[in-house]
Amino acid sequence: MSFERLNGRRVLVTGASSGIGEACARRFAAEGSHLVLWARRGERLASLAAELRQHSGIAVTTEVVDVRDRAAVNAAVATLAAADTVPDVLVNNAGLAAGLDLFQEGDPTDWDRMIDTNIKGLLNVSRALLPLMIARGRGHIINIGSTAGHMTYPRGNVYAATKSAVRALTEGLNLDVAGTPVRISSVDPGMVETEFSKVRFAGDEARAKQVYEGFRPLGGDDVADVVAYVAGLPEHVNILDVVVMPTAQRNVYVLHRQTN
Ligand SMILES: NC(=O)c1ccc[n+]([C@@H]2O[C@H](COP(=O)([O-])OP(=O)(O)OC[C@H]3O[C@@H](n4cnc5c(N)ncnc54)[C@H](OP(=O)(O)O)[C@@H]3O)[C@@H](O)[C@H]2O)c1
Repeated sequence: MSFERLNGRRVLVTGASSGIGEACARRFAAEGSHLVLWARRGERLASLAAELRQHSGIAVTTEVVDVRDRAAVNAAVATLAAADTVPDVLVNNAGLAAGLDLFQEGDPTDWDRMIDTNIKGLLNVSRALLPLMIARGRGHIINIGSTAGHMTYPRGNVYAATKSAVRALTEGLNLDVAGTPVRISSVDPGMVETEFSKVRFAGDEARAKQVYEGFRPLGGDDVADVVAYVAGLPEHVNILDVVVMPTAQRNVYVLHRQTN
């Protein structure tokens, strides 16, 4: 499906250096959208940007931004505003799970990383951009939530809490922009094969691989298709929340794995 409406729009994707964010960058580039790509790993952003500029002929700017750093976020947004490149669409994607521990054995450092990135990072970016979108009379914020924000799984405690917060914030922002043309949406995936599990298990590739064994998970591009759909609808249509899962997965507990 292609969305004429996205052609020439400017889209900011946070966490564009991997996984769902990178797939969103590719998907919006294919629609002819201009891109602003943020993440901490600048080399990855630079090579993605070079590839997309060459193949899609779009404008791509990249910036090393840690969304936890409010001053850095505000400075990067001020740069966009000064250059008259305020994005039409913000995909609040940067996020992570750190650890999969019983709460009583959990590491508070992991909690801080998740809360600071998934909740406060999303707040920092949204707070900086939303007033500019309202002033322009145009804008769409799409939050990447999770099925973990709808149903908590064992050992998912703090990660689920952060994604429940994202769900509450999608709802809250929607209410607060009533009367403006700005749209607020959430796309909430189930299991997607990205670097997510590698990050969750602190670089343990073998353990990460096991998460996706015996079934076909979503790819980042499947989620990006849904994000593009949500963004590409006419401006009077506001999708509040989409839950997207692999067909093998029916909720956070029911996952059908083929065994040999
Ligand atoms: N994979 C799944 O099964 C799944 C399911 C539901 C929801 N999600 C959500 O989808 C989103 C994307 O995750 P993914 O699956 O694509 O994982 P991923 O491949 O690990 O990508 C995460 C992205 O977030 C960026 N990021 C992390 N911390 C950041 C920070 N402090 N500042 C800026 N960027 C930061 C990373 O870039 P740098 O490291 O370069 O900064 C990376 O580009 C997350 O919000 C995650 O919670 C994933």
